[in-house]
Amino acid sequence: MQPILFFLLAVVAVVTGVPHGEGRMSGGIPITIAPPGTEGYKAMFPYVVSIEYEDSHICGGFIYSEKWVVTTASCVENKVLSSLVVVAGQVNLIDYDYSEERHAVFRVFPYDTYDSVTRADDIALIELSSNISFADTYKNFIKFNEVYTDEKPTPLGTFMGWGATVDGGGFSPRLRYAELTMLETSGICGTYGADEFQISKMICAMDMTSPPTIAPCTFDEGSPIVQTYGTTGAETTIAVGVLSKRSPTCNPEEPSVFTRLSVYYAWLYRVAGQQPTSARR
Ligand SMILES: *[C@@H]1O[C@H](CO)[C@@H](O)[C@H](O)[C@H]1NC(C)=O
Repeated sequence: MQPILFFLLAVVAVVTGVPHGEGRMSGGIPITIAPPGTEGYKAMFPYVVSIEYEDSHICGGFIYSEKWVVTTASCVENKVLSSLVVVAGQVNLIDYDYSEERHAVFRVFPYDTYDSVTRADDIALIELSSNISFADTYKNFIKFNEVYTDEKPTPLGTFMGWGATVDGGGFSPRLRYAELTMLETSGICGTYGADEFQISKMICAMDMTSPPTIAPCTFDEGSPIVQTYGTTGAETTIAVGVLSKRSPTCNPEEPSVFTRLSVYYAWLYRVAGQQPTSARR
């Protein structure tokens, strides 16, 4: 038996008031969705989606436009299309959220040169059978761009997902998020070999607090890491990567590898068209 490891997408934040009963290893910061009519409420991460296969959450992704979702190729390879479902406006995977909207998948486009061994070019577009509605504040697209390093060469990103909160565990029923540092100054990422980590196409990120306590885990794959920058009151939030590879034991001492979205700009544009011009606020 493996010792139980307590990291994962989240842990730490137990300090910030995770309700009791969540158990000591869940930690992280779970989000809840406000009831309809709550004044001024906006979903915290309206662009993140849950991808289900045969009725069970397998991966995350983000909304590119009404009809298109971005995830990793590794999440959708060898999947029967009719058994894939994308859930937008999702928070709790077990309880019904009134904001959730389920969409069948029409087509899947893994990147042509995706390599299932090294996970190079680990990105895929999902074309939905029906449009996601942006009519409420719980579902929206997010723009993507290159990691912004002007203020800090190793900037923080916010990662979110429904990944396991303990090595070997099932998905987390509630969406969780945590901060990871993107190591943009080094071409080396932990113990990943040269064929497994190429900084030009991938982002290396980990919890740089001491000691590190957060690591993406099973079922976090495909979920986005986003970056917020700019002056207070005029911040921009952009998606910069999707989770491709992580420590097999969800060890927070080991970095994770994200597919660098900006590299795929031309391909995303060609397959899925332009993104909507501005996010509704
Ligand atoms: C779906 O959204 C696209 C824009 O992304 C729009 O052009 C199209 O008309 C929409 N389709 C329907 C059926 O609303």
